Amino acid sequence: MKFQEIYSIVGSVPFITKKNGRFLYDLILREKITNIIELGFAHGTATCYMAAALHELGEGSITSVDLIEARDSFRPSAEEQLEKTGLSKFVDLVRTQTGYTWFLHDDIVRNTKNHICNEVYDLCIIDGPKNWTIDGAAFFLIDKLLKKNSWIIFDDYDWTYTSADKLRNSTDGITHRSLSKDEQEIPHIREIFELLVKQHPHYGEFLLFPVDNWAIAQKTVSGDKTYIIDYRDTTKDLIVKIFYRVYRMLKGR
Ligand SMILES: C[S@@+](CC[C@H](N)C(=O)[O-])C[C@H]1O[C@@H](n2cnc3c(N)ncnc32)[C@H](O)[C@@H]1O
Repeated sequence: MKFQEIYSIVGSVPFITKKNGRFLYDLILREKITNIIELGFAHGTATCYMAAALHELGEGSITSVDLIEARDSFRPSAEEQLEKTGLSKFVDLVRTQTGYTWFLHDDIVRNTKNHICNEVYDLCIIDGPKNWTIDGAAFFLIDKLLKKNSWIIFDDYDWTYTSADKLRNSTDGITHRSLSKDEQEIPHIREIFELLVKQHPHYGEFLLFPVDNWAIAQKTVSGDKTYIIDYRDTTKDLIVKIFYRVYRMLKGR
């Protein structure tokens, strides 16, 4: 599906701008990206741009994750938009109880064999709570699942809890006034990008769209590794350990 066509259907629905939608669409076609994960989908508008690009490529899939509790907050829903555009077959919408960090836990479990996590995704877009703890953890978790030469996109580079104060008292379950002054005033995604992504040994290409609030990084080094586990315990170590356990039990500690 051409960009203009998908834009004419979903272009008026929040949250992604036309420019960022176009960037996503072109990136997928240029890099022949087929395996995508989206963290935070709301109305599924960005999802539709990506699915349209996959349709144009003729293959691929998107795993999109959001909260169960947000199901009724967005009209049109992601399901409705995908249905309307005829692109549902490219997308697996997943709604989780506690959020995408636990989804990523499950995904790492699914993709782990012989103590190594397979790198499966070519592109990840992180557009959720904009929170240091949640999105910082999400970055380290998704890194395990991202292939070499894949891309990671963060929305809301400059967003702060202070800026959201005018609209509401809490954002995605976090009460603004429960945070320190710094936590309210400093953009969390900017800190994640500057301190975690840019300094991470796997990431080497960085792109910033300050006006549209996007920060993008390319994973230039794979996390692939081989390993050896050497269990050094001797029978003597084992006997000492058992003896110590029994001693602690007898002492009631
Ligand atoms: C700005 S919207 C996403 C917009 C979408 N990417 C787009 O551009 O069309 C943010 C979404 O993140 C979701 N969200 C917030 N915290 C989350 C979490 N911990 N896990 C999963 N989704 C979360 C919200 O429910 C909301 O739908």
